[in-house]
Amino acid sequence: MMQPTSPSAVAAFPTTGEPVLRVENGSSRQASDSKQDPIIQVEGLRKTYQTARGSLDLFDNLNLRIDPGEMVAIVGQSGAGKSTLLHILGALDAPSAGTVYCASTNVASLSPRQAAAFRNREIGYVWQFHYLLPEFTALENVAMPLLARGKVKAGAPGDAQRAPSSSLGWKREALAVAANWLREVGLEERGAHRPGELSGGEQQRVALARALVNNPRLLLADEPTGDLDETTAGMVFDLIERLHMSHGLTSILVTHNLDLAARCTRALRLESGRLAPLEARQ
Ligand SMILES: Nc1ncnc2c1ncn2[C@@H]1O[C@H](COP(=O)(O)OP(=O)(O)O)[C@@H](O)[C@H]1O
Ligand SMILES: [Mg+2]
Repeated sequence: MMQPTSPSAVAAFPTTGEPVLRVENGSSRQASDSKQDPIIQVEGLRKTYQTARGSLDLFDNLNLRIDPGEMVAIVGQSGAGKSTLLHILGALDAPSAGTVYCASTNVASLSPRQAAAFRNREIGYVWQFHYLLPEFTALENVAMPLLARGKVKAGAPGDAQRAPSSSLGWKREALAVAANWLREVGLEERGAHRPGELSGGEQQRVALARALVNNPRLLLADEPTGDLDETTAGMVFDLIERLHMSHGLTSILVTHNLDLAARCTRALRLESGRLAPLEARQ
């Protein structure tokens, strides 16, 4: 499995009241306008890995449509292919067959260089492990995707839309934008800390700020709370939910936590190579 190397970085749903699971394949409540273009459209997806013990077929002509603003949970047993699916959606891995459109882009058609630019621009990744760079401060870690991209996207917090006048000025701008994101995740006081000086929950909040610093349209989160205790996991999930809403994101969260899955606008189970609605529990 490809290791994530450069994580860069998810409509409205109630935060109170009964958890609601969508049990049909239709759109979520905030994406009820079926005429809008989907942000994810997967048809006939197959993925085959060649292994020492023969070929492994992960998906059985899998189909998936996600509309803008949805917050979709994906659950499934270990080895079901959840991470592989996220990697394919996010142009980190290639499908063996089928079409995968993500943010109006046919991801399979991208060259490695185009895929890198696409990921940096459109997608925020968060993983179970934060993958922060240990030798850099929290602030520098958050700024990293901006520095990699070379310019700040329009509408980013800090309104740093201008082209950098110099590389020094550019770095300063990137750090200012990163500081705003650290504030958004409640860690403005921790900017000078290195990852090793932060708690697990704080590390994951920094990773979220880094994931969103380029104002992506999509947040792909692979067991983002899987390494955290229950209370911290709940707090990180609350933050993801808040950022999802306040930034108009579309989010896909892989999780083993059925309570958290139930808080998403739609929950799906990946099983036998296909996605099916997760039945609402009592
Ligand atoms: N690069 C690879 N080469 C061969 N097999 C792989 C590779 N990546 C993943 N797999 C296999 O594909 C299956 C699905 O993996 P993964 O997507 O990580 O599952 P999940 O995230 O649901 O636990 C597993 O059996 C895994 O061993
Ligand atoms: Mg996985």
